[in-house]
Amino acid sequence: MSKPYGVAVIGAGYWGPNLARNFRGSSAWDLVAVCDTDAVRAQRVVGPRSTVEVETDVHRLLARSDIDAVAIATPAATHAPIALAALAAGKHVVVEKPLAPTSVDASKMVRAARDAELILMIDHTYCYTPAVTYIRDVIASGLLGRLLYVESTRINLGLIQPDVDVLWDLAPHDLSILDFILPGGLTPTRVSATGSDPLGAGRACVGHLTLSLPGGGDAHINVNWLSPTKIRQMVIGGSHRTLVWDDLDPLRRVSVHDRGVDLGSPDADERHASAVSYRLGDITVPALSEKEALGSMVEEFAAAIRGDRPSRTDGIAGLRVLSVLEAADHSMAANGSPIRPRFVDTTTGDLE
Ligand SMILES: NC(=O)c1ccc[n+]([C@@H]2O[C@H](COP(=O)([O-])OP(=O)(O)OC[C@H]3O[C@@H](n4cnc5c(N)ncnc54)[C@H](O)[C@@H]3O)[C@@H](O)[C@H]2O)c1
Repeated sequence: MSKPYGVAVIGAGYWGPNLARNFRGSSAWDLVAVCDTDAVRAQRVVGPRSTVEVETDVHRLLARSDIDAVAIATPAATHAPIALAALAAGKHVVVEKPLAPTSVDASKMVRAARDAELILMIDHTYCYTPAVTYIRDVIASGLLGRLLYVESTRINLGLIQPDVDVLWDLAPHDLSILDFILPGGLTPTRVSATGSDPLGAGRACVGHLTLSLPGGGDAHINVNWLSPTKIRQMVIGGSHRTLVWDDLDPLRRVSVHDRGVDLGSPDADERHASAVSYRLGDITVPALSEKEALGSMVEEFAAAIRGDRPSRTDGIAGLRVLSVLEAADHSMAANGSPIRPRFVDTTTGDLE
């Protein structure tokens, strides 16, 4: 077993404590410090009588030689300057979603990490859940057949964020999941988005996003901060089978339905309608382990630094998600007109 890497968590607000807890629980890591401009928050995460240190200044933190890596859980607008400073100081970096406020900033981060031969990862948390890992494997195995459509619903009574609209707050989850499960990643040629603010909150609180899938179908994402019902559901329709993921149903989180619509060959019957048939086959519910996603994420960060395996959510994955979110912004400004996202070079992180 190699020596644990020294790590610091930067940002001790809502999400940072979850990162700190998982680094603390991993033998691959030694949590050296928690850094927040608000010392009281950092101290609360560290707890009493702890050997983990409290730090309030990022630059002082980055100058330490006992820290190999940092996890950044500060507001999105601060991600790029903190990550670039950390990379310049020779630290490996994992950043909370979104990678940066703009794809241009994110591209700079990807290039800085590559030039310094350091790991840059994004915490696309869902990609580390047993359910999403299973979905990716099922799609890759060909069991679903050709992907026809994806319907993703992520709605609940959410906090109206001061700095971002509902698409930037919630859709990164759906987009990062699509980036992970679609063979070839998230590479839509067309993105359309609409958002509404029916309460006058000052930003879109209900959003709809449609993006093209490689085989000709569409993925549709619905995000909403105003819904009293919480729904976390994704339906992935394939030419052979359909997969339903209901993240709020622990007994049947994922089900694979051998049900769908078959079209006979056009010349099998002169009348098109009579060539359509419905399959009503079995439903399979796989047994999935219950493992905290962040625990797997911190293990993968260490494995990527050791050179054991590349991270499944590297900086380029974060960049692809940003490129789609920016296209969604442009589409919203153009009343939902389709926009082609900027192309991301998946080896260099350069933008078209
Ligand atoms: N992966 C997920 O599922 C998930 C869930 C929630 C939040 N997040 C992400 O985590 C990040 C943080 O979100 P949050 O809800 O915890 O925010 P938050 O506002 O609750 O906490 C941010 C903390 O960062 C501190 N901070 C700000 N600037 C700093 C600086 N320059 N140096 C040190 N500390 C600084 C603030 O004092 C605050 O304590 C966001 O990017 C958010 O999108 C991810």
